[in-house]
Amino acid sequence: MRVVFLGPPGAGKGTQAARIARLRGVPHLSTGEMLRRAVREGTPVGLQAKGHMERGALVPDDMVDRLVAERLALPDAGRGFLLDGYPRNPAQARALEQVLARRHGPLDRVVYVHVDDDTLVERIAGRRGCPKCGAVFHVAARPPKKPGFCDSCGSALVQRADDAEAVVRDRLRVYHDNTAGLVRYYEERGLLGRVDGNLPIDEVTHAVEAVLGSAA
Ligand code: AP5
Repeated sequence: MRVVFLGPPGAGKGTQAARIARLRGVPHLSTGEMLRRAVREGTPVGLQAKGHMERGALVPDDMVDRLVAERLALPDAGRGFLLDGYPRNPAQARALEQVLARRHGPLDRVVYVHVDDDTLVERIAGRRGCPKCGAVFHVAARPPKKPGFCDSCGSALVQRADDAEAVVRDRLRVYHDNTAGLVRYYEERGLLGRVDGNLPIDEVTHAVEAVLGSAA
């Protein structure tokens, strides 16, 4: 199963990719999460990415392409993978095609999770994440059992630095300028499956499963 999750910030790509990864036993590869870890750990990639991420801008393609190619070279990706947040523009889509042609085989499906802009802003405002294990919650739609603490590892939950309202507006603009065009790109290649991400989380998961069908 080689799948890309595509959609605007806050659409629920990460939430759904994490669920499907558990159900299907394949790794969930989020470039946002990889980059945030690099920033936390102060690696050379993290130091270069930090400023771009804080502004809501894209990190340069060559850096992200290399990160993904290295991750896809690890043995567990041989079983398949769910990419979340990559590719984000046509140049990254072509870089991914080259890596897959060398090592894995073509994509099976692209799941496009679409959500109204007003809902995106509300979702991002209510998001809380675990800095230790990466679990994602929402104060209303998916509250943790103990308010403010992670269900999985007990760590204190935090708000992402780039979830501040001004940065969210920039991230939405960057999405519309760069990434939205990939919907057509993958539609033309017969890979796109649309999912209504405005629905409750469980219903979205059922819709994603329907789009993935027997992709394995
Ligand atoms: P990244 O982390 O990829 O951010 P994003 O694409 O903006 O997506 P989000 O993580 O905000 O949203 P999501 O769709 O995963 O939603 P979630 O499931 O959390 O990227 C961050 C930054 O890294 C970028 O701005 C860029 O700088 C850099 N970057 C990353 N990839 C890059 C690349 N390829 N190239 C260059 N730069 C790159 O859900 C949101 C909230 O809603 C949660 O609280 C959740 O609990 C809740 N929720 C989810 N589904 C539902 C539902 N159905 N109903 C109600 N609530 C829901």
